[in-house]
Amino acid sequence: MMELLLGQVLRFAGDPFTDGPDAARIERRGAVLIDRGMIRAVGPADEMRTAWPQATLRDYGQALISAGFIDCHMHYPQAGIIASWGKQLIDWLEQYTFPEEIRFADKCHARAVARLSLDLALSHGTTSLCSYATSHPGSVDAFMQAAQARGMRVLAGKTCMDRNAPDALCDTPARAYDESKALIARWHGQGRLSYVITPRFAPTSSPAQLEALGALWAEHPDCPMQTHLSEQTDEIAWVAELFPQARDYLDVYEQFGLLGHGAIFGHAIHLTPRERARLVEAGAGVAHCPTSNTFIGSGLFDMAGLRAEGLAVGLATDTGGGSSFSMLRSMAAAYEIGQLRGTALHPAQLWWLATVGAARVLGIDGHVGNIAVGMEADLIVVDLASTPAIAQREARAEDLWEALFPTIMMGDDRAILETRIAGRACAPAAG
Ligand code: GUN
Ligand code: ZN
Repeated sequence: MMELLLGQVLRFAGDPFTDGPDAARIERRGAVLIDRGMIRAVGPADEMRTAWPQATLRDYGQALISAGFIDCHMHYPQAGIIASWGKQLIDWLEQYTFPEEIRFADKCHARAVARLSLDLALSHGTTSLCSYATSHPGSVDAFMQAAQARGMRVLAGKTCMDRNAPDALCDTPARAYDESKALIARWHGQGRLSYVITPRFAPTSSPAQLEALGALWAEHPDCPMQTHLSEQTDEIAWVAELFPQARDYLDVYEQFGLLGHGAIFGHAIHLTPRERARLVEAGAGVAHCPTSNTFIGSGLFDMAGLRAEGLAVGLATDTGGGSSFSMLRSMAAAYEIGQLRGTALHPAQLWWLATVGAARVLGIDGHVGNIAVGMEADLIVVDLASTPAIAQREARAEDLWEALFPTIMMGDDRAILETRIAGRACAPAAG
């Protein structure tokens, strides 16, 4: 069945950081033709209706049709400890995160939280995510199975740790390698699923484990690799103590073969000039996690500077260090951090970071993250007047950006009228 979705269509023909806001293409009365899960055509509503008279019409009026949001760094096992009070990174990990992650030895718990977190993502308009699982291989299976049941394009990996964490979460260099390799064979490239090689961060991996995972990545260069980098100053000082021979935090990863195209570094706030240049040169990507960076007290990410230097950046929730499941809320926090650093990010830039930018960091931008012919029809329909507070501001707007910005700053899951995965509107709570 072909379906023609009518509404305001927002898509990107370029990068609004380099090409300006006009990189966004807005069709006030536009249409997207969906055929067998793919986007078959895009254009003005009238022309599209004439060209495709046999398609079933779905008219969303003034609502915005966009690619679904892409969350390029999150921890699904931390859904249950989101909004835990009063700690900074290392204490937050010890007090809240590690005890919760230990519970994922229980496959029933893993399955329940995987389903819950994917259903929360969908209801917030997030169609693809890249998640850390726990160190238990079963936690990866649970997430991949739940994503498969929902038809979602997701990425995930077993979080490898062999020191500075509770025994119940620690593996060894050999187990990290063997279990990750078995999970790659089971899940990588199965339908819409990708496996991500995942050392948690330098403090919780011995040199031998980082070396083993570097070797694994060299054997599977088509898998992405994700880890954390330079999130808090105490963490950076700890890394310097643990790896005294390294030039800086990024150099630890580079020494073990964990820097290159396909690497996704979470946070990357307190970077030296050498690290910034090296990230760009290596073709690595960075996940900006703004609600986490303010919530855990990490610092102010230099979006304007890093993008001007050519670094690939995507937006992420970092659930549950992040304080919201919403990519709208994440855009708002990114805007506020930009303001604190003296740069007002344009709504086109914020929306791009949550769609095309995040997809690019994950290497899935050929499939999702934008509305274009031949891409997968992972789409959202956004109500630009979803609450009375937003509606009264939107009513005064003189252009689309002014109409959209109140939803970026004040919107949440109430703004998401519909989420479509491969063309099909989601029924929440699939198996
Ligand atoms: N650094 C190492 N592990 C984590 C984590 O789970 N969350 C965040 N925000 N930072 C980390
Ligand atoms: Zn994280």
